[in-house]
Amino acid sequence: MSLVPQDFLPAIGPWVSTLDDVWPGAAVKPYFAHWEVGHLVAMLMLGGASILLNLRLIGFGLSDQTPSEVRRDVAPWLHAGVFGILFTGLLIGASNPDRLYTSEAFTAKMLGLAAALILTYGVSLPLARADGRAGSVTRLLGLMGLVIWALSLYVFASAKLVNPGLWHVLTAAALIVLFVSRGLTRIVYLAGLIGLILIQFVTTHIVIKPDDFTRLDPANKAFFWVFLVWILGAAAVQTLSAGRGEHGGAFTKAMAYAAILVWITTAAAGRWIAFA
Ligand code: HEM
Repeated sequence: MSLVPQDFLPAIGPWVSTLDDVWPGAAVKPYFAHWEVGHLVAMLMLGGASILLNLRLIGFGLSDQTPSEVRRDVAPWLHAGVFGILFTGLLIGASNPDRLYTSEAFTAKMLGLAAALILTYGVSLPLARADGRAGSVTRLLGLMGLVIWALSLYVFASAKLVNPGLWHVLTAAALIVLFVSRGLTRIVYLAGLIGLILIQFVTTHIVIKPDDFTRLDPANKAFFWVFLVWILGAAAVQTLSAGRGEHGGAFTKAMAYAAILVWITTAAAGRWIAFA
């Protein structure tokens, strides 16, 4: 099954191809770069707010404030960032519609966006408001957000020439776990990461020649899975060893990780639209 919007939404094709000839697409087109900077500034705002909020739910950073206090302080920035990114995204999208219509990365990005909105507004903000306690609606929305995020990752992973963008998501996950883990877990985890990076470098630069793509591709994919298992394992150890703190247990922490990484998936897919 094709995952390009053009193939599963063929009926809107004629309308899409007119978007950059009419207002607002036509007006934005000559200033695409300026609007794209606005897109990225909005992303920094929402990303910063989401990271502060969700790290607090994981139990890291701003520990002099409760999660509900952090939520109160960062929510206006988060809302402004989300509004800004949707506003600028729709405008730059209207000025360059054919690229999006033929892009699997854009499909991954829109699924990621849907999951990000659910995990942020349906899960992470309510969890913070309740200082980490999860009700049944929050749990259901969490599950729904995870399923849609998994679909986004599936599309991202299946898109040829675009799927290396998943390394951004993996790198972000690796760094978050490095920040939040403590003590011996952090030392063992970091040593493992460095070891894996070295082994990957030697394998993909010396053992396999850098232009031997038929062998490099499967090797890099295998390393991706090994890194993923290592990072998820360390996140699980961190979450379980922290125990049920006063601001929520494993569910709250897992949702907080997901709520950061789902925005990173969306951003990475956005960046990789250009490489399709
Ligand atoms: C209504 C939703 C959105 C639309 C229609 C949209 C549209 C676009 C378009 C048209 C581009 C330029 C692609 C290209 O020509 O290479 C782009 C780039 C990008 N978008 Fe979005 N976007 C949306 C939401 C988001 C969100 C929520 C994020 C982040 C969480 C995001 C992050 C990015 C990034 C990082 C780039 C790459 C910028 C660059 O390469 O300079 N976008 N987006």
